[in-house]
Amino acid sequence: MTNVNEGTAALVLGASGGLAQAIVSELMADAGIDTVIAVSRRAAPEHFVTAPAPPMWIETEYSEPAMAAVVEQLQCFAGRITRVVICHGILHSDSLWPEKRLEDISAESLQTVFQANSVVPVLWLKLLHRLLKSKQRCVVAALSARVGSIGDNHLGGWYAYRSSKAALNMMLRTLSIEYGRRVKNVKIISFHPGTTDTALSKPFQASVPSDKLFTPEFVAGRLCGIMDKAEIDGQLSYLDWDNKAIPW
Ligand SMILES: NC(=O)c1ccc[n+]([C@@H]2O[C@H](COP(=O)([O-])OP(=O)(O)OC[C@H]3O[C@@H](n4cnc5c(N)ncnc54)[C@H](OP(=O)(O)O)[C@@H]3O)[C@@H](O)[C@H]2O)c1
Repeated sequence: MTNVNEGTAALVLGASGGLAQAIVSELMADAGIDTVIAVSRRAAPEHFVTAPAPPMWIETEYSEPAMAAVVEQLQCFAGRITRVVICHGILHSDSLWPEKRLEDISAESLQTVFQANSVVPVLWLKLLHRLLKSKQRCVVAALSARVGSIGDNHLGGWYAYRSSKAALNMMLRTLSIEYGRRVKNVKIISFHPGTTDTALSKPFQASVPSDKLFTPEFVAGRLCGIMDKAEIDGQLSYLDWDNKAIPW
């Protein structure tokens, strides 16, 4: 059993999703990480509960006070967190669907999508900065999306999702500048996983060629490889699964 009072730790936020679970598994297999901490609205999936060295699983809602209580609970890991992956993201739900045209835009859907995709990630990075400050390198990746690129938007549609990811990117860029002054050991990456076989992409997979639909395990391996090699340069990088830069 891992001793949580010593060694390095990795933190996965929004840990129950398809990509997030694969990232938790990838980090659990990393010999350089002693404790994997997973934070989610949901209970731990059975395969993690029964794993020989299970992740530390914390259930929470995503109000700011509840998130602050999680960060308080993690104080014993201060200065020892070397990886953070922020996985929150919604594209559709029972009550919302990506917009095809102007008439589909609704204030309620915009607020729901922005809250999950832009506000929750930036609140984590506000609340975590003291915990991440350290002499050792720490790499933070937030799962963004290529459709958040303003320069790359040639198709239109998906107003809420696109603009919430563009807002996420701008928040991360602004955070990178302030972290570059105050939390110099941290590198932040805005990461596009590529179309990956999860609940989020399920309704949109029919038009995706099979060699362009990735498994969560493949993407988790790519992301962790990119995080391992990232240079601590005080800059935000907007990268895809192939480690290629995406235009803003
Ligand atoms: N799959 C793709 O093709 C694809 C492509 C580009 C980008 N992405 C991005 O990759 C990330 C992970 O997506 P996924 O494919 O793994 O989707 P998923 O399986 O649907 O996972 C959804 C994630 O969002 C969190 N979440 C859901 N509703 C939320 C809410 N109301 N407030 C806060 N968090 C909420 C969940 O956290 P809990 O554990 O708390 O439930 C979970 O981490 C997202 O940011 C998505 O935009 C995915």
